[in-house]
Amino acid sequence: MFVQRGGGVFACLLVLLLPVLFPNLFSSPLGHASPSVFSEWNAPKPRHLPLLKGALQRPSSYGWQSNPWSPLPDQGWKSCKSSVTPVLPRKSRGYVQVFLDGGLNQQRMGICDAVAVAKILNATLVIPHLEVNPVWQDSSSFTEIFDVDHFINVLKDEISIVKELPKEYSWSTREYYATAIRATRIKTAPVHASAKWYLENVSPVLQSYGIAAIAPFSHRLAFDNLSMDIQRLRCKVNFQALAFVHHVNELGDDIISRLRYPSAKSAAVDKTYLQMTTDQKAIQEPLKFVVLHLRFDKDMAAHSACDFGGGKAEKLALAKYRQVIWQGRVLNSQFTDEELRNQGRCPLTPEEIGLLLAALGFDNSTRLYLASHKVYGGEARISSLRNLFPLMEDKKSLVSKEKRAKIEGKASLLAALDYYVSMQSDIFISASPGNMHNALVGHRTFENLKTIRPNMALLGQLFLNKSMGWSEFQKAVQEGHKNRQGQIRLRKEKQSIYTYPAPACMCQAL
Ligand SMILES: *[C@@H]1O[C@H](CO)[C@@H](O)[C@H](O)[C@H]1NC(C)=O
Ligand SMILES: *[C@@H]1O[C@H](CO)[C@@H](O)[C@H](O)[C@H]1NC(C)=O
Ligand SMILES: *[C@@H]1O[C@H](CO)[C@@H](O)[C@H](O)[C@H]1NC(C)=O
Ligand SMILES: *[C@@H]1O[C@H](CO)[C@@H](O)[C@H](O)[C@H]1NC(C)=O
Repeated sequence: MFVQRGGGVFACLLVLLLPVLFPNLFSSPLGHASPSVFSEWNAPKPRHLPLLKGALQRPSSYGWQSNPWSPLPDQGWKSCKSSVTPVLPRKSRGYVQVFLDGGLNQQRMGICDAVAVAKILNATLVIPHLEVNPVWQDSSSFTEIFDVDHFINVLKDEISIVKELPKEYSWSTREYYATAIRATRIKTAPVHASAKWYLENVSPVLQSYGIAAIAPFSHRLAFDNLSMDIQRLRCKVNFQALAFVHHVNELGDDIISRLRYPSAKSAAVDKTYLQMTTDQKAIQEPLKFVVLHLRFDKDMAAHSACDFGGGKAEKLALAKYRQVIWQGRVLNSQFTDEELRNQGRCPLTPEEIGLLLAALGFDNSTRLYLASHKVYGGEARISSLRNLFPLMEDKKSLVSKEKRAKIEGKASLLAALDYYVSMQSDIFISASPGNMHNALVGHRTFENLKTIRPNMALLGQLFLNKSMGWSEFQKAVQEGHKNRQGQIRLRKEKQSIYTYPAPACMCQAL
């Protein structure tokens, strides 16, 4: 766009900003592949150069703004103390088995729902089977991701859970159901089925065979019209029973220590810290950090049908991808880029997220942890963000290859690690709505932690206005995000209890 509107101006600015925009030409602190400006003419260029210039010159104090790091005030909501003593059904009515699709965060919701359904049926739950997702390709099992003993133990007074079926039912496997129609498989659970549906349709199967295998199971339990006990049980699973395996937590703690105490260079940061005297600890205040979940992959870019500034080559590549994957049938493709941006339907690019964070008052000393899989367009796409936030880290920059070996290439374990780190951050922000965003919004709401939800429609409109200066942009952004930082939003009908845990799973402190 810039090139068309004023190639000359762009060229001059580019030359002036070259060392700033492409510092990685000369050094690559994170060890990412450095793109060469000269070999990648199609590399995505900054699209909001005047704003980027303004942001790069932003002062390093907050000035008239409020401190962006200030934690959320107490909002009067707490996790509920259970008033009723949980009751384990006297006799299990059989075994419930589920097979869960999707990535880690979708499976997480499926696990919570499976516990609830087993409870509704007074059945014994078999540890859920996690399907291999065609996109993420991770075959890790429940036990390889979650601490299974903790899971069973936290829920032991409410529901019985077994790691494996007893011998007499060992025939009930995924392969068994894949090869023929079977009487013990429940295939017809409607999306958001009621408790009544399960009692009417699954109880008889349990009665006859002692086992019921429910597949598909994702999104198969309603969010409304369930007893308070069942809703609280779902939250207990999500927020208490599901903990990751030890080595994920350990890697996560390692990352967090490095973000909070960057000067303690030793491999054993924890030990160094533990050996310090109280006085030393007081001197070395833990630093704060932001986790940015940046899902900006080709799939998402193509699906949104927006223009991301990569020029003709990128447009063609994304159009081709849409054709191959969805036969070109992408709802958004009937709209122009401008229409989509006005409606807030374009995922924010790394550059745009950087401008948002800068406008909210985060200066260039902010420690930013990138939680993401891979970024479409590579390092070139991230360079503007990196210029705004030079202290940007990720798993690769903070954890040695040897330590990462156990989780390398395993999408679910990598996502688990990012989830763990995200839960410990001072600020969490996600560049696009999705399962990971929703899961963390819900969990952080439960813990009253600050979470910035980008106002996509507002930002879309602001970025379309090419005559807007930095200070106007900043004022509009701050105004538009005052109430998007983690304030409690009560769940409305049909909304997910995992994204909106209040009021069902949280109680108002008196
Ligand atoms: C941060 O910005 C200030 C100007 O506001 C500049 O002097 C300083 O060098 C920058 N620091 C880094 C690490 O880029
Ligand atoms: C489950 O057990 C509870 C308590 O034992 C009982 O009140 C309820 O009717 C049972 N429900 C089913 C479907 O068996
Ligand atoms: C919940 O139940 C009530 C009464 O049975 C019904 O009117 C309402 O539509 C139900 N809500 C949902 C979201 O299913
Ligand atoms: C763009 O921003 C300028 C400066 O704030 C403002 O005067 C103008 O009305 C805006 N244009 C549109 C179309 O919103």
